[in-house]
Amino acid sequence: MAHEFKLLRRILKERSGIDLNEDKMDLVEAKLRPILKEYDFPSIAHLTLALMKPDNDHLRSRVAQTIAVLESYFFRDKAPFAYFTETMLPRLMERRAASRRIRIWCAASSTGQEPYSLAMLLSEEGRKLDGWNVEIVATDFSEEALRKARAGLYSQFEVQRGLPVSMLVKFFNKSGNGWQIKPEARDRVAFREHNLLNDCQELGRFDIIFCRNVLIYFDEQLKTAVLGRLARSWRRMAIWCSARRRAPPACRRTSWRCRSGIMACSV
Ligand SMILES: C[S@@+](CC[C@H](N)C(=O)[O-])C[C@H]1O[C@@H](n2cnc3c(N)ncnc32)[C@H](O)[C@@H]1O
Repeated sequence: MAHEFKLLRRILKERSGIDLNEDKMDLVEAKLRPILKEYDFPSIAHLTLALMKPDNDHLRSRVAQTIAVLESYFFRDKAPFAYFTETMLPRLMERRAASRRIRIWCAASSTGQEPYSLAMLLSEEGRKLDGWNVEIVATDFSEEALRKARAGLYSQFEVQRGLPVSMLVKFFNKSGNGWQIKPEARDRVAFREHNLLNDCQELGRFDIIFCRNVLIYFDEQLKTAVLGRLARSWRRMAIWCSARRRAPPACRRTSWRCRSGIMACSV
């Protein structure tokens, strides 16, 4: 199994940047079970043999996406969202008063809870945003995560994680055993497939970038590369929102931090 795990680890690193620890072997095995079933592989060893074939690119991507951690919940960590409404949005509304356009990017948005939390906060602003074009672009490399995010359908358990009851009632409709986000919030978010390892220029430039709970899985070298790419997507005076209390080391080192005007890492 050690040999198979090494190969799976390499594939995951190449496809997603995620650097998996040896102690995650059991977790990987459990996560891959549905793929074994779907493709009719009797064991992980058979799957790894298939993964080595050059024409199995799609399978390699599927495996990487399956192993990735999709964990997310509404208003996760609270502080970044309070900071968004109390500081980021008012400051940006001052600075973008002429164009009345604000672009927000949720990079690695998983199943949608993060961008929808922002969308609900924007709706809560009410008339203040009349005449403004506030765009939320949410990206992830996982097709499964994007499918769920686009559907905007969450279980009772998922809506109980972080979402205030008042917001549940206001922004969701009951749908079977779950809850579906209403178009008012859903239509504020455009979901797109994007791998953080790739160039992001085609997404355009942003005023706020949320990139949370994903770089923790990358090694230092990759973190620096990804942060460099994100930095080039910032508009002047853009605001960064990390999950960590302190800026990631790569962030602190690079010079674009000063050029970008405001740097808000301590959320
Ligand atoms: C733990 S979730 C975090 C979701 C959300 N940002 C939050 O804080 O709740 C990490 C997400 O990163 C995505 N991810 C991992 N590697 C990626 C990559 N190379 N490119 C894009 N997304 C990636 C995973 O698919 C997963 O949805």
